[in-house]
Amino acid sequence: MYHNPVLLHESVEGLNLRPNGTYVDVTFGGGGHSKHILSQLENGHLFGFDQDQDAASNVIEDERFTFIPQNFKYLKNFLLLHNQKEVDGILADLGVSSHQFDVATKGFSIRFDGDLDMRMDQNNPVKASDIINSYSPEDLAKLFTNYGELNNAYRIALSIVEARTAKPIQITTDLKEAIRKHLPFGKENKVLAQLFQALRIEVNQEMQALESLLLQSIAVLKPGGRLVVISYHSLEDRMVKNFMRSGKLSGEAEKDFFGNNLSPFTLISRKAIVPSEQETNENNRSRSARLRIAEKK
Ligand SMILES: C[S@@+](CC[C@H](N)C(=O)[O-])C[C@H]1O[C@@H](n2cnc3c(N)ncnc32)[C@H](O)[C@@H]1O
Repeated sequence: MYHNPVLLHESVEGLNLRPNGTYVDVTFGGGGHSKHILSQLENGHLFGFDQDQDAASNVIEDERFTFIPQNFKYLKNFLLLHNQKEVDGILADLGVSSHQFDVATKGFSIRFDGDLDMRMDQNNPVKASDIINSYSPEDLAKLFTNYGELNNAYRIALSIVEARTAKPIQITTDLKEAIRKHLPFGKENKVLAQLFQALRIEVNQEMQALESLLLQSIAVLKPGGRLVVISYHSLEDRMVKNFMRSGKLSGEAEKDFFGNNLSPFTLISRKAIVPSEQETNENNRSRSARLRIAEKK
């Protein structure tokens, strides 16, 4: 299976679909969410974005669907190219698909011995191995701290620099070997997963793409249009939460003279919606999912 969609009903319900409305699934992947949206549209239209060329093999044959094989940071421009200035809803199911994790050669998973690649977009010139073999120890440490929330980031970075001086680090096993002494007994996989997550976020510039998507959503959504985001780690969730509250990437919402909140959004879910116990039991990858919904004023 390419990908088992997470929080499928909750997220599509969050879009508050109008049967003839226009929607964008900016993370098409295996098309699970897209199929569910289409099943509820009549004469509406759905655009699906994905930057991974592999997702094109899942394209839905339906005249109400248009696949756009692009990074969602170009949302506004590519919608305009399809004569679409505004839409009724945007769904983002962030991060990596199960397919991407399960293909060993993509290098996303700590389970396999694969090329240290981690690119979602095969045209991206920067692989994880380029970062590992070229960043200064300070820059490596910064990215392990910021994106992996690792405590001993600088010491890990120094071990990487020591190993790469002897021989470039090309495959996932080389990286695991280079940092072996920093893996606490019984917690090896946790630390490795944090490290791999940090690298993946940097390779794909995930935080920058999310920032750009969120900012564009203000212009792209019609009044009453919904922004629905599923995130999988605290950095993303924090950014989404703050943006939905304030319409800004950081800081408080602007207030008018009378103290009224001037955020362009109304929160539909005050708290993040998380998967049911049944879903987490059936789909381990849904464990960390957090869904947030806001409506454009
Ligand atoms: C969690 S999966 C989405 C799965 C999808 N909802 C489904 O039901 O199959 C995330 C997908 O978003 C894509 N993606 C991640 N960041 C992207 C970006 N900045 N632009 C376009 N696609 C992106 C990935 O390539 C991946 O296929």
